[in-house]
Amino acid sequence: NVRLLTTKQFVPPRNPFGIAFDIDGVLLRGREPIGRAPESLARLYKDVKNAELQVPYIFLTNGGGMTESARAAELTRLLGVPIAAQQVLLGHSPFMSLSHRFKSKRVLSVGKGAVDEVLASYGFRKVVKIDEYVEEFDSIDPLESYKPWVKQSKSSRDILMPSSDQKISAVFVCSDPVDWGRDLQVLCDVLRSGGLPGKAESESPQPPLFFAADDLEYQAKFPVTRFGMGAFRLALETLYKEVVGHPLAYHSYGKPKAVVYKLAENSLQHVAKLLNMKHGKPLTSSEKVLSSHLESATVGEVNEEHCALKTIYMIGDNPETDIAGAIGVGRPWFSILVRTGCFREPENHPLYPADKVVEDVYEAIDFIAQNEG
Ligand code: G3P
Ligand code: MG
Repeated sequence: NVRLLTTKQFVPPRNPFGIAFDIDGVLLRGREPIGRAPESLARLYKDVKNAELQVPYIFLTNGGGMTESARAAELTRLLGVPIAAQQVLLGHSPFMSLSHRFKSKRVLSVGKGAVDEVLASYGFRKVVKIDEYVEEFDSIDPLESYKPWVKQSKSSRDILMPSSDQKISAVFVCSDPVDWGRDLQVLCDVLRSGGLPGKAESESPQPPLFFAADDLEYQAKFPVTRFGMGAFRLALETLYKEVVGHPLAYHSYGKPKAVVYKLAENSLQHVAKLLNMKHGKPLTSSEKVLSSHLESATVGEVNEEHCALKTIYMIGDNPETDIAGAIGVGRPWFSILVRTGCFREPENHPLYPADKVVEDVYEAIDFIAQNEG
């Protein structure tokens, strides 16, 4: 009974609206599209081949580990529609607004993927990735020799204690850490020593610690949800408190934080403006055209302009992040909860009830089309 709506049913809408898509558990499981996710996105274009978009939409994910432009290219490949970097908000995108504070300071980047490149792309100048950082110490990870994936060729290293110019001024957990055991140990070392590991105690204050997101669990390819960055945060917090004796100080971003929804409003409005500018004329290439018109749409920085969109639909699978955030911010956000990820219940979530519950993203687009048609 699902009707594939023609493009005309979206244009012109009665009121300007936009859509924010969660990724894991809504559009993808790992690298595999969920159900009719590609078709669902294709319905937002007048002409997919010519990147002629007609409904402003963005991706709003707590995931990360690559730059927004690399993720846009990957999503384009996986979902079969042209996607621009300015349509992608990752968990770590708000870190851009912190780059001026730590511009010339040495910062540690943690997590899967190219997390050093990510911070460099935001304007951080002295970034060291944890995989390279551990190389600066002799025996910082006592279990290293049991890890067949670690190169064991290193002879005894010269540097035993870091010098003050190697001090870590802040730690950024950008994406899910890969080697939890090592990273928990090294982060406790860095944080309890004021950024210069090697001493048991230090008078120096704990360096600032930032997490890109705080999801306890998320939906990956495995049928049952997996631990996310929030689980790692809990582990670090517990261990730090136990060994140091006082609570870990940290700040986390990601959904359901309101700032993330404000960033999403900004990004959506820029995409919407572009569509209005290009009214009646096809876009030649999404990446090229969106990039050139959206130069002012700096990812990761909140611009407090009034939101001209009457409704922003958040399509998510996690009541505690996607839906709780939309509820917290209120209008113009309207939450749609799908049953293809973290949430599988027959009834709405009791603590964070979504404005609408549907089976999957395709049904979500049906609902939006009917609501806006
Ligand atoms: O690591 C990814 C996970 O934290 C959630 O991603 O797309 O469901 O917000 P998403
Ligand atoms: Mg999700």
